[in-house]
Amino acid sequence: MSHRILLLGAPGAGKGTQSAKLAEEYGVDHVTTGDALRANKDMETEYGTPRSFMEAGELVPDPVVNEIVKTALENADGFVLDGYPRNLEQAEYLSGITDLDAVILLDVDDEVLVDRLTGRRVCEECGANYHVDFQPPEEPGVCDECGAELIQRDDDTEETARERLEVFAENTEPVIEHFREEDVLVEVDGEATPDEVFDRIRDVVEA
Ligand code: AP5
Repeated sequence: MSHRILLLGAPGAGKGTQSAKLAEEYGVDHVTTGDALRANKDMETEYGTPRSFMEAGELVPDPVVNEIVKTALENADGFVLDGYPRNLEQAEYLSGITDLDAVILLDVDDEVLVDRLTGRRVCEECGANYHVDFQPPEEPGVCDECGAELIQRDDDTEETARERLEVFAENTEPVIEHFREEDVLVEVDGEATPDEVFDRIRDVVEA
């Protein structure tokens, strides 16, 4: 059976980390708007480039993101969706184009989120994700998977991380409420090791 799973949570809650594991476990596509936008940061749209919004910690305009998601889901036989929907308009658009089997909200305290974001390092070559304290690579600054150099994302400074948390609280709370009202939302405590959090999510998906 092809799973259609949506992971919700604040910046740094572990959506990327857990989505990659879930996509591998169930053999489905990992669809993430953050990665898709980072890969097209300088794309010209009628609203400007995605870069200008992302570096300020703001949301990229809905029409740009909706189109990316629609195309990705049309081409997927099962998916784990992460980073979308970020506001009620996107949630309503999503409900119009697909059904979901599970909607999971990862709960993590704000100060833990800031520590996770500012310590995150990513591999630009293969997308692998690390943390300087919680998930360090074997050799500092070098990707275990492909040997490329690890970088800090432009929006993982403390100032932009806090801005992103505010944008999340403002825009994404109505999304959570939307799925709560539809009675499909399950909250999972995201404050444990990545493997423990994964076990909790898998229990929900398989329940
Ligand atoms: P996006 O890339 O989606 O960023 P985000 O939602 O802010 O989420 P993150 O990727 O920062 O965090 P995550 O929850 O995936 O955490 P991760 O697993 O990496 O979006 C970036 C920007 O793009 C937005 O600000 C916006 O501008 C734009 N955008 C994207 N989608 C959009 C949309 N739909 N509409 C409009 N604009 C959009 O983990 C974080 C760190 O913690 C890592 O270092 C990891 O190693 C560590 N970690 C993970 N789990 C654990 C654990 N259990 N214990 C300890 N450490 C852990």
